Amino acid sequence: MNPLNGLTRRNTLGAALVGIAGLALGKTASVLADTVLPLGLDAIAQTRGLRFGTAIAAGKLNQRDLVALIDQECGVIVAENAFKWKQIEPQKGSFDFKGADAIASFADNHKKLLRGHNLVWPGNEFQPDWMKGKAAQSGKDTAAWAVKMIRQHVALMISRFPDIMSWDVVNEAVKPYTGKLNASILTQPLGDRLLDVAFKMARQTAPKAQLVYNDYMSWGIGVGHRDGVLRLLEGAIKRGVPIDALGIQSHLWATLDRPIDELAWRKFLEEIEAMGLDILITELDCSDRNVISKNVAVRDAETAAFVKGYLDVTLSFKRTKEVLVWGLCDRDSYMNAAFFAESRRRPDGLPLRGQPYDTELQAKPMRQAIANALAAAPARS
Ligand code: G3I
Repeated sequence: MNPLNGLTRRNTLGAALVGIAGLALGKTASVLADTVLPLGLDAIAQTRGLRFGTAIAAGKLNQRDLVALIDQECGVIVAENAFKWKQIEPQKGSFDFKGADAIASFADNHKKLLRGHNLVWPGNEFQPDWMKGKAAQSGKDTAAWAVKMIRQHVALMISRFPDIMSWDVVNEAVKPYTGKLNASILTQPLGDRLLDVAFKMARQTAPKAQLVYNDYMSWGIGVGHRDGVLRLLEGAIKRGVPIDALGIQSHLWATLDRPIDELAWRKFLEEIEAMGLDILITELDCSDRNVISKNVAVRDAETAAFVKGYLDVTLSFKRTKEVLVWGLCDRDSYMNAAFFAESRRRPDGLPLRGQPYDTELQAKPMRQAIANALAAAPARS
């Protein structure tokens, strides 16, 4: 059966336009024309009851070619950095909403749904620097202080951006390998009760928003991170913490060309579904650091096949509702930014090719892999 039987009139029109779209989509054009997929990734996603989107940096909203691509491909956007506490409140009590406001207006003007990333990121390097002063003098009042800080910040952000339909309320609280909580000035006094404080405040301020715990456990062979996240979520749900969904970041660099455990991944996703949670793929990318060949075609083909395999498994779970990439193109990827750690770059020094479009904004096989995986996903409501 054609998986696209449920096309709406709008999508059918999109499909008719594929011949024209093919010009912009470079290498994928002929395949798209053959399979008569609708125009953009979000349009394809919608035929299966899914959504597709991307992260965007506030400083890149003036790139007209990138914006055109976002308009073509995405129904959802998320700010790469602009909503993070460290950016919003660089000095205690002094706020900078410039980037976040720009992203929110962009979403509004371009009719995109907006995700909020993130409210609380409990690692000392990701919290505002001024919190380090408090860490130094931490005493018995620290728990009350942490509760007050989290409540104020969560309420402030949600009230300022009432149109955000989905928030990463807590990001990366669990350490990989051990599965224990990240030690930080916010987690040390509160432990996993940090989730209670943040999620309850979020629900109180935005009763209708989707509240998400976001982390980067994936389908690698190590069990520590997955188990830690399961324990954290199970405990929180038992305590009545209002969590609606798990955000699975899906930075696949650490697993490409490394052993994976698909069965364990399926079991993990089953357990998440059994907890009654929705699943979002929030930050998909696939650095080709571990592909030894220097040949671009080989690297792109291997990356695309790997992404397709990962999406096929993860999208076979019907509570997976969204796929967002962490940047559409290699030109703007954080993986090719000056600050990206040397240890995570390619040993041959070549730029990484982890996103669906290249530096010239030409579609790569990864874009087609995402399109095919979305089109093949079982339909969901
Ligand atoms: O703003 C300064 C700029 O003034 C300076 O010139 C430049 C030089 O290094 O640094 C700029 O700040 C950088 C910022 O990104 C904006 O580009 C920071 O050093 C850098 O640490 C920061 O990295 C971000 C990282 O999260 C930490 O917040 C990346 O862009 C962003 O892609 C990355 O995103 C994370 C998600 O939030 C959570 N999941 C993992 C994902 C990838 O690491």
